[in-house]
Amino acid sequence: MRLSKYFLPTVKEIPSDAIIPSHQLMLRAGMIRPLGAGVYSFLPLGLRALRKAMDIIRDEMDAIGGQEFLLPALNPVELWEETGRVKAFGETMFHLKNRPLVLAPTHEEVICSIAKNHVKSYRDMPQIWYQIQTKFRNEPRPRSGVIRGRQFLMKDSYSLDATWAGLDASYSRHAEAYKNIFSRAGLKFFIVGASSGAMGGSASQEFMIESASGEDTCALCDNCNYAANLQVAASNVPAAPRYPDGEKVEEIHTPNVKTIDDLRVFLKVEEHALAKSLLYMKEKTPVLVLMMGNDQLNEAKLESVLGGGVRPSRPEELKELTGADTGSIGPVGLNPRPAGGEPFLIIADKRLQSANNLISGANKNDFHLKNIDLTRDAAVSGYYDLRTVRPGEPCPNCNAPLRVVKAIELGHIFKLGTKYADAMHAYYLDEGGKEHPIIMGSYGIGVERIIACLIEQSHDKNGIVWSKALAPFHVHLVLVNSNNERVVAAAEHLYEDLQASLIDCLYDDRTDVSPGFKFKDADLLGMPLQVIAGEKNVANGKIEIKVRATGNREIVEIGSAVKLVEKFIEA
Ligand SMILES: Nc1ncnc2c1ncn2[C@@H]1O[C@H](COP(=O)(O)OP(=O)(O)O)[C@@H](O)[C@H]1O
Ligand SMILES: [Mg+2]
Ligand SMILES: [Zn+2]
Repeated sequence: MRLSKYFLPTVKEIPSDAIIPSHQLMLRAGMIRPLGAGVYSFLPLGLRALRKAMDIIRDEMDAIGGQEFLLPALNPVELWEETGRVKAFGETMFHLKNRPLVLAPTHEEVICSIAKNHVKSYRDMPQIWYQIQTKFRNEPRPRSGVIRGRQFLMKDSYSLDATWAGLDASYSRHAEAYKNIFSRAGLKFFIVGASSGAMGGSASQEFMIESASGEDTCALCDNCNYAANLQVAASNVPAAPRYPDGEKVEEIHTPNVKTIDDLRVFLKVEEHALAKSLLYMKEKTPVLVLMMGNDQLNEAKLESVLGGGVRPSRPEELKELTGADTGSIGPVGLNPRPAGGEPFLIIADKRLQSANNLISGANKNDFHLKNIDLTRDAAVSGYYDLRTVRPGEPCPNCNAPLRVVKAIELGHIFKLGTKYADAMHAYYLDEGGKEHPIIMGSYGIGVERIIACLIEQSHDKNGIVWSKALAPFHVHLVLVNSNNERVVAAAEHLYEDLQASLIDCLYDDRTDVSPGFKFKDADLLGMPLQVIAGEKNVANGKIEIKVRATGNREIVEIGSAVKLVEKFIEA
């Protein structure tokens, strides 16, 4: 491709609304242009990179027996009512105004409706169906460029199985395919156990890259490679002790002492002697949650323990229910409720399992209780892992200190089970003629994210550093002296030879820009190899080759350039 004819609007300035490196560089390199919040046009150079990512995806999906579909983005709203997901997606789903249609944010329902009509026997399975298609999600805060768009490309696939072992196999195949896809793209990724969110179902894993620009947070162990989304991450912190001699509960006056740290200082006790009480509501049930000391409650963990629909209590509500304000509430004497109403559900973090000699609020402002024995004085209905892991805590597998890092989710694999088949009555007949719901899995990859994440991981102050697999062009050929006939002839000749060898070459043949400008553009655009045709070298029958990633330069015979480029690409 000749740069003189190519539509490639590069810009020098950093666009003011772009904060993260991949967004800035994709705009500067003329790959994308914004059309509205979270909506981007891909320009020719951007599309070339996107295509490379899609080629790798198709290759690996086909390799695990995937069959490619193209499902409609426009879906009847009734289809989504069948599974209750109009409500589950809420504001995130786009609804059309003049017909009862929605823009699909994902495609489980469409897949399930096809399966229901055509996958009728155990003999029809397993199936892996995939597509690469546009998804629509009304993201509340689209930012980070194409990493969080309102319209984006997803490779989504779905497995249909007759047995749970079959689902396990389809899931592992996908895990393998995903590892291959991201490795081939040149991404450094890690895999975490995740919570399943709005999808529902059992096992789920996310493929992540570590990045300061990420919106997810993960705990990582560099020693044993334990990795988990902070929503589910655990650590090996010690539990609060249980003392052999427990005294009777006693009220203590704690005027204006509310926070755990103030209490610790005021009462001269260890943090593990303090049980922090928090009040949540699950519909009409007040839920008192006990955490050790300054441990932070993880609301995602609380949601999964209580089955969703949980919210923090409002201050007036908390006062009315307990008789005290935040910082003075506690687990003792809450039930039965004097004024009637749903009894309190009291749950505690695992660290407090069977602990005694604890201090917590007295449900009376300015007072706390000491010597609380959770097995004796509070009706704790269960102990669960409810805390948020902090950096430096011991890894649950090997006790090495955990790192807590920001990360971007590239892909997600779920074992859905029979949730969708149950809701939509998608049944098959087994060998004995008995009816069962089809067992499904669902698997997604953000296609634009592959590109943006590669740039997040692979750039320097001058621009993008493409991996060979995703680079829009393999080679950037720079004609330095466009006024020197010999140099022009050499560059033109080389351009033809590279094309004849099927090497993707971007040829900067422009006559109206300075060499310095061309070099800057070559670094900004970041193709793996730069081949530089300049006066001095060409006069000696030579040409310069620069490796973008390392900056290494080599001067070689013009005649050997194509072979060297080929060797570099294949290596
Ligand atoms: N708004 C978005 N913009 C770009 N890519 C997205 C967006 N939302 C999701 N993706 C990509 O699609 C993949 C599958 O999405 P999914 O797991 O269903 O979404 P989420 O994690 O947002 O619930 C994600 O791993 C991510 O790579
Ligand atoms: Mg996800
Ligand atoms: Zn470890």
